[in-house]
Amino acid sequence: MWDEMLEKAKMVMANAHCPYSKFQVGACLLTEQGDYFLGCNVENASYSMTIDAEANAVANMVASGQSRIKAILILCHGETPCAPCGACRQRIREFAKDQTPIMMCSLDANGQLHQLEKTLGELMPHSFGPEFLDT
Ligand code: THU
Repeated sequence: MWDEMLEKAKMVMANAHCPYSKFQVGACLLTEQGDYFLGCNVENASYSMTIDAEANAVANMVASGQSRIKAILILCHGETPCAPCGACRQRIREFAKDQTPIMMCSLDANGQLHQLEKTLGELMPHSFGPEFLDT
């Protein structure tokens, strides 16, 4: 599962539109139904309009009619595995469980992979989610 997700994240990361930060991010999520959805970051000259890689992957999943994330992998360049920002943790939280694995990865200049696996609950304890709302 992770190997396939890493390859997909590499491909989508290369499509990142990040002329301002020059920080490419790729995200690949796997749904409970067994489908993969991808996203890269898309920046804008109006900086605050930037869309994060995870946000695009989640939006692609929802647009395809799915809503249950089984696992998600996030990739950037460098020595430190890419941590999802706080807002993206909340975006993932909407469609995942505390036990859902999040694989943070990076590829360094030598092509060496660095990774760190955590659960959503570890990255975001005591979080707010859909079950709080009576809908
Ligand atoms: N970025 C993501 O795509 N996901 C994150 O979780 C953290 C940050 C992007 C946004 C921006 O294009 C660049 O990384 C630098 O912040």
